[in-house]
Amino acid sequence: MKKIAIFISGAGSNMLALAQQIQTGTVEAKIAYIISDKPEATGIKKAQQLGLKTQIISWQKENIISLIKQLQKDDIDYIILAGFMRLLPPDFVNVFSQKIINIHPSLLPKYKGLKAIKRSFESVDKYGGITIHYVDEGMDTGPIIAQFKVPRLPNDTLADFEARIHKCEHENYGKILQQIFTGVK
Ligand code: GRF
Repeated sequence: MKKIAIFISGAGSNMLALAQQIQTGTVEAKIAYIISDKPEATGIKKAQQLGLKTQIISWQKENIISLIKQLQKDDIDYIILAGFMRLLPPDFVNVFSQKIINIHPSLLPKYKGLKAIKRSFESVDKYGGITIHYVDEGMDTGPIIAQFKVPRLPNDTLADFEARIHKCEHENYGKILQQIFTGVK
């Protein structure tokens, strides 16, 4: 069974959905720990309530080097980014090439970076969506694994559209990760 570390910075709803799918056996993996660069991330409390191990990292060079060593020592197979709001440095990405996966709330390459849902909502696009991709040194530029379209309906408020995007993320991140972890489509 693959051993994973989940990196978050905020609410952690994707982490929570994935943790629940792992607990029920829909996704076959073992969560070693949840890592956050933000002590105030509300996802940390949610992870602790689920009985998961958590760790806060102050995002500085020496701590990042120790983190790389820790992940190697703990034989972490995959690093799952779920709302982690930092660009991982090249040293990190090179060590774990094809082992770091991210979810982004747009149909990349559209709307890379921050406020992707808002920018997608304010566009003339009929569809927004989500992208699951491997992480490289760039911002939301790594090889795409899967994309899912989400309709932007005429009477949508931003909150409606955002809720539909998050639902799509929660339903599909685990599904795609399960395929990657098991090699079965
Ligand atoms: C998600 O929309 C994810 O795609 C993006 O950041 C958001 C994190 O939300 N990378 P949450 O912390 O999982 O609730």
